[in-house]
Amino acid sequence: MSLILKELMQKRADDGFALAYADILLEPAHSAVLPREADPSGRFSRRIPLAIPFASAAMSTVTTATMAIAMATGGGIGVIHPAMDPEEQRRMVRKVKLRLNGLIDMPVTIHARMTIEDVRKLREEKGYGFETFPVVDEKSRLVGIITSNDFKFWPELSTLVSEAMTPFEQIVHGRRSTTPEEARMLMRKHRVRVLPLVDKDRKLVGLYVSSDVERVLGPRKNFTLDAHGHLRVAASIGTLNDAYARAEMLAPVGCDSFVVGTAHADTEGVLETVRTLKHTYPNIDVVAGNTSYGEGARRLATAGADGILVGQGPGSICTTRIVAGIGIPQASAVFECAQALEGSGVPVIADGGITNSGDIVKALALGAQAVMLGGLLAGTDEAPGEKVYVGGQPMKEYFGMGSKRAMREHAASRKRYGQQGMSSGKYTPEGVEGRVPYRGPVEGVINELQGGMRSGMGYLGAKTINAMRGARAVQITGAGYAESRVHDIYPDRSE
Ligand code: XMP
Repeated sequence: MSLILKELMQKRADDGFALAYADILLEPAHSAVLPREADPSGRFSRRIPLAIPFASAAMSTVTTATMAIAMATGGGIGVIHPAMDPEEQRRMVRKVKLRLNGLIDMPVTIHARMTIEDVRKLREEKGYGFETFPVVDEKSRLVGIITSNDFKFWPELSTLVSEAMTPFEQIVHGRRSTTPEEARMLMRKHRVRVLPLVDKDRKLVGLYVSSDVERVLGPRKNFTLDAHGHLRVAASIGTLNDAYARAEMLAPVGCDSFVVGTAHADTEGVLETVRTLKHTYPNIDVVAGNTSYGEGARRLATAGADGILVGQGPGSICTTRIVAGIGIPQASAVFECAQALEGSGVPVIADGGITNSGDIVKALALGAQAVMLGGLLAGTDEAPGEKVYVGGQPMKEYFGMGSKRAMREHAASRKRYGQQGMSSGKYTPEGVEGRVPYRGPVEGVINELQGGMRSGMGYLGAKTINAMRGARAVQITGAGYAESRVHDIYPDRSE
């Protein structure tokens, strides 16, 4: 009944058929692997291993610095979206890279001439949860520090900050070059909770907070880290001149991977962009996409791509297949590209169409080394945008990078879908705008997906994701699919 997954996919391909994730099921096998013993580590690109093979999509409703930090601390990686100006993207990449320094590079300061009342108001207005502020003069020189104790001991609201603060002469401080380890030593020695950093003119250039530093130097479990112990991050930068301009800004702040992202990557423009970036930045991995057939993947790898995004039209918000009539159902696309790249060391990232953890298990068994998630992450706290209530249900906005809204708002989206230079009424959208259920913190979603993935590995008896490729599988019918889903019950939505 079942065939080795590879044979099944090949047989269908030979007959001109392509399958979606929902068309197949993997056959359980004799197993000596418990889910918790499975090792789901994968790869985003040649030189970026992932403890958890998840990447967050380069979409304006999914990945900014906050999501990228959450993904890298969860063992995956985030791809900062391109629908913002290059300077903002640079700031986001830098924020992720600095996160594990425990260093606040632009601390909130107050002025010595403010009163305690002014500071209280400022805290309320801005919603600052902290009570420690470096105090500066008009030349941004550090003149003192004010902490929660000062607020307690100076109940007079009219007291000037300059009177209430601990003056500079009594403050333990560091230099711009102070490392987190040195900061921890100084703070422990002097029993202080913050360490301001100043330059030779006494200008404030940073601030260490002990709780952050302890967290950073504590156990790091599965974090995705670079050689210096900083979180890894990728950025989607488009193609050609846009990509070169962004790369020039992002390389100096430590961007780990450039993603040359477009709706159709097997084109001269993308191949040239990949070659140029690889030549100019040999130490930065270039991931290219999207494609959905073996030849395309191979051409991108030959041009130098270190990872390939596979998926044209499977995404939850995509209408490319409907609008343009092109695309390959995702299971076959992932399989074909992984086959084409076999032995090259270039991983496939299965991008789009992942609706649950079972799809992740299938994508990995088909040869992907990681999956890229959009819709499943767009409802989390770490995704941009506010929670809204629709019919009493909490939701978050999610729209395609090729949707009318994205094209109206962002030049990067127009370029991705070849609509640059069109007047706004004439865009041909390849994506829709909508909402997804609110899902709480991303950590919970990652844990749930990871649990399902490990469970799948347990059923297959596969300790590693490479071992999953030996799985057997069946193609199912519509009746088989209906049987697989929840049926004949009214599910309790409150759970
Ligand atoms: P999921 O299914 O995870 O898919 O929500 C996310 C992926 O979809 C791609 N994407 C689009 N594809 N039109 C498309 O055809 C669009 O407007 C669009 N926006 C995003 C992208 O690859 C993303 O990672």
